[in-house]
Amino acid sequence: MPQKSSSSPDFQSVLAVRLSRRNALKGLGLSSATMMLGACSIKTSSVVTSASAVSKAQGSLTFTELEHGLDAYLSVSPGYQTQVLVSWGDALFPNTPAFDPDQQTEQRQLKQFGYNNDFIGFVSLPLGSQASDRGLLVVNHEYCSSEMMFPGSPSELALDKQQTDVNIAAHGLSVVEIARQADGQWQLVLNSPYNRRITPHTPMQMTGPAAGSSRLFTRYSTDGVQTLGTYGNCAGGVTPWGTILTGEENVDTFFGGDFSASNEGDNYRRFGMVSDFRTSWGLHHERWDMRQNPAEPLHVGWVVEIDPFDPHSVPKKRTALGRFKHEGANVFVNADNSVVAYSGDDQQFEYLYRFISKGRYQPDNRQANLHLLDEGTLYCARFNDDGSMQWLPLVFGHGPLTAENGFHSQADVQLDCRKAADLLGATPMDRPEDVDVNPVTGQVYVMLTNNSNRQTAQVDGPNPRAKNLTGQVLELTPPGGDHCAGTFSWELMIVAGKKGQSGSQYHPDITDNGWLACPDNCAFDNLGNLWIATDGAEVLGVADGIWATEVSGPNRALTKRFLRTPEGAELCGPFFTPDSQNLFCSIQHPGGGSSFDNPKTRWPDFRDDLPPRPSVVVVTKQGGGRIGS
Ligand code: FEO
Ligand code: CA
Ligand code: CA
Repeated sequence: MPQKSSSSPDFQSVLAVRLSRRNALKGLGLSSATMMLGACSIKTSSVVTSASAVSKAQGSLTFTELEHGLDAYLSVSPGYQTQVLVSWGDALFPNTPAFDPDQQTEQRQLKQFGYNNDFIGFVSLPLGSQASDRGLLVVNHEYCSSEMMFPGSPSELALDKQQTDVNIAAHGLSVVEIARQADGQWQLVLNSPYNRRITPHTPMQMTGPAAGSSRLFTRYSTDGVQTLGTYGNCAGGVTPWGTILTGEENVDTFFGGDFSASNEGDNYRRFGMVSDFRTSWGLHHERWDMRQNPAEPLHVGWVVEIDPFDPHSVPKKRTALGRFKHEGANVFVNADNSVVAYSGDDQQFEYLYRFISKGRYQPDNRQANLHLLDEGTLYCARFNDDGSMQWLPLVFGHGPLTAENGFHSQADVQLDCRKAADLLGATPMDRPEDVDVNPVTGQVYVMLTNNSNRQTAQVDGPNPRAKNLTGQVLELTPPGGDHCAGTFSWELMIVAGKKGQSGSQYHPDITDNGWLACPDNCAFDNLGNLWIATDGAEVLGVADGIWATEVSGPNRALTKRFLRTPEGAELCGPFFTPDSQNLFCSIQHPGGGSSFDNPKTRWPDFRDDLPPRPSVVVVTKQGGGRIGS
């Protein structure tokens, strides 16, 4: 990777931005030390550079740091243990035939845990409790790596019809009840009434402003309301009313076929659709062939809300949150009980979004809360180099969002979200992935993974490097803790990459194992510490994994490595139980970049007759206790 000295123009511009931001905050009457929620008051020191070093103090993250490395195994900090909870092919229901990769069928896959687990949500059972020993695990299955799934290591395009149907059935989500036993081990509860597979074929409904739009009419949806399935499910969130939000991300890759005759050509090109098939789905099912079924791509790219407590519920595509490549969505209840959802569009130069509900959260009326995400206002983010940022409303008829520019209704705004945000002047970002609210401080954290195509002339405050291979963590602070405010302040918390190289910025006391690359997902423990999961550290020669840091005080940005994935894998979906004593982690695409026939690891089974299997693991402290202590 290209290395830059600390005197590079990019680094200087970061410093200049930071300094000017300090003055701007004074001008706004804001100080980054004063915007806190609840009982916890914290101080946000700025990103620390060697010029303003503060020393490390004993904090809440006292675990022994794990060393960098890259091998076939999952590794965790000394004093911790991991249990493989569920892997691709494991039964989710009683009487499911044992997994056999040589005998895989669609019918079997529909009863088994799917492939490439990503987001994990844990919702305590019973509903509304804070139980940490029993709950529903809800997991996204983002995509398949067919060359790792099937004997003969076929390419995505080489799958026959039967293999294609297995592949399709391995997408979507799994819902499974889990319980911790007296010996501390977690188990799947196979006879639970809640267990469910949700797939690209599951009947769903479009709701909100785009529902019923004639643009959504297909031979599978004659009313633009009924729809089928979800896929490309990357990250997500759990709502305060116990539902799951799942983001449909790279959905363009499932389609193919010449769409030049379609009215949606501009939309499709803006979304990355191409005529060439990139998977076998459209080769065997006309639903994913844009020549046969040209409007189908508009049915994906949404946030889907799923009620895991009702296994017969129809998942809802919440069009009020807009259509783009949603990494996920995370909900926060504002002080006035408005519900605020943050979401990133994970592609180079795409945008950050916020939705604010019209209705208010009612703690004692779950039924009413189930409709909160259908009505409200969606905003895109514009960042200024003075450390402020604006939320720009995406409202039909306002500003440029008029018929003159091709918008004839609010439905059009939701369907053409990227174009609407272009016209409003949103700030193109370095791949916004997880956007999540720290439950202790109320500040918002944005994982920006990387952007190798950013040019020097495109460098700006929150995206401070050209050819950005390693990403950054951005911190947003709502004024007075008001998440409905039109203007927030922002600060770069971490500029990732090797320690001391490429303009990276951390606490000066990070060890040689403390640097990270390509932040993707994140989680907060119940003390408000930030746990960062990565997707791409292998480009710098080290395994992906998890790093943890305090967000304020003398240990801010003092990242410490906690976990390492097996070779080829990325780490997704970290999620804590309410007591922060169990940390669920997705190990996605272990052995990635190799093949079924010649895998570079056979984690987690290490059996000659099994390929590596994407799996959810649970991390606990030996002898019990809070993760991180
Ligand atoms: Fe599926 Fe944005 O990673
Ligand atoms: Ca991701
Ligand atoms: Ca990713």
